Amino acid sequence: MSAVTQIPMVERVSELRAALDAARRDGGSVGLVPTMGYLHEGHQSLVTRSASENDLTVVSIFVNPLQFAEGEDYGTYPRDLDRDREMCAAAGAGLIFAPPTEEMYPQTPVTAVTVKGLNALLEGRFRPTHFDGVTTVVAKLFALFGPGRAYFGEKDYQQLAIIRRMTADLSFPVEVVGCPTFREPDGLAMSSRNVYLEPDERPAATVLWRSLQAGREAVVQGSRDPDEVEAVMAAVLAAEPKASPDYATVVDAATLDRPDVLDGELRLLVAAHLGRARLIDNVGVDCDRL
Ligand code: PAF
Repeated sequence: MSAVTQIPMVERVSELRAALDAARRDGGSVGLVPTMGYLHEGHQSLVTRSASENDLTVVSIFVNPLQFAEGEDYGTYPRDLDRDREMCAAAGAGLIFAPPTEEMYPQTPVTAVTVKGLNALLEGRFRPTHFDGVTTVVAKLFALFGPGRAYFGEKDYQQLAIIRRMTADLSFPVEVVGCPTFREPDGLAMSSRNVYLEPDERPAATVLWRSLQAGREAVVQGSRDPDEVEAVMAAVLAAEPKASPDYATVVDAATLDRPDVLDGELRLLVAAHLGRARLIDNVGVDCDRL
């Protein structure tokens, strides 16, 4: 085993608590990077950021069954713990928490955290139970770790907005840090689910980024009509025969509401199926800074 693979990894809550207690004994700060594993450079950038801002960075690796609906990819979600361990170590993490399902959910949970309204928009229309599963497990992770800061990617923009709102509403003493999306050289947003793309689908997958760029360019060129911007985005998606879009939309960056007239900080978001992969992506544009 090489030196970088020797980062400590614990599976039990009792071991996690002991390690965190030891780290905090001398006033050390704890940063949490919650993940479902099968890490990529985007995850590593969260770890690197956390390591630069906290004394101890802990990465949780847990494929959370609560956020997958019947028929989704819970059973086939990619897993590679040895590689994850090396990537965490290389990025500066000090500890990994990789619990088995029965450690996280010793009994079937009958308690859920719901961020009403925000959980039903956009992704929520296609995955109605998804965000309740995310907020329930993130609330649990916050309770288990008591981190000062927790790091999430902007790639899952709606998730980030929902977690921020949950943190505020429930007064978790956690700073939620959003970090920029990492992209492949051709613009495809890094995602663990990119592994589902067949070789002939991989070039086509850039259509999400191309759609977002076209939509943003329409705003930059002066369009303030959401229908017009969405039509531009939809046209790019429609021109790619391998893509089946779920949505292409523009919303207020803070509320995720769709405005009648585009103004202030906006977020453009797209979702599409390409073969077995369902991909999402987003980009920001600020009308006040054009
Ligand atoms: O973004 C993810 O990987 C997951 O939704 C999260 C935040 C780790 C919760 O399971």
